[in-house]
Amino acid sequence: MIKTNFLAAVAAGALALALGGSSIAAADEPAQHHPAHMGMAPTAAPAADTRQLVRFPEPLRTHELQNMRDHLLTLGRIQDALGQGRFDEASELAETRLGMTSLPLHGTHEVAPYMPEGMQEAGTAMHHSASRLAMTIKDASVTGDLKPVLAALANLNQACVACHASYRLQ
Ligand code: HEC
Repeated sequence: MIKTNFLAAVAAGALALALGGSSIAAADEPAQHHPAHMGMAPTAAPAADTRQLVRFPEPLRTHELQNMRDHLLTLGRIQDALGQGRFDEASELAETRLGMTSLPLHGTHEVAPYMPEGMQEAGTAMHHSASRLAMTIKDASVTGDLKPVLAALANLNQACVACHASYRLQ
């Protein structure tokens, strides 16, 4: 009896794997989907907040959080444009709203003095990553190959996550 249940469980697991395997990306790197890789432990009690508190004077703090919400909005708009094949628009969004060109737009020189060095570096890394994404999208508009674009997008996302993991404003 126990043996039968065990076999059924194995069969169910194999089926789940086969179904999950229909998504190529998921099959390639299953470990990436483990919550531990995202710094979260969803079933455990909330871990202590070890992020460094950074103080920005008002109205810079409010402005920075506004920028952040715009970053997320922009990521979504880039994905939407890519999905519709509007490569020029996606590349332009990445460069002008998140890339190196966006620094004056976000008032970076004003907030930089309040940032610890590591946070400044995380910010610069994010802007560089967005500019690289913009270039990669330009290439893809010629080659039609979206794989490098997805990798560059993941890299940018990771740059957001890296800073969020270490710093907080409120
Ligand atoms: C240099 C550091 C840094 C980078 C890079 C960064 N963020 Fe943030 N972000 C922060 C901090 C600090 C907060 C405030 C978090 C807190 O106080 O809990 C924040 C908050 C946010 C919020 C919440 C805004 C609100 O109104 O509370 C969003 C959304 C967000 N970030 C999106 C992004 C996205 C998307 C990216 C990447 C494209 C990004 N951030 C990159 C530091 C960063």
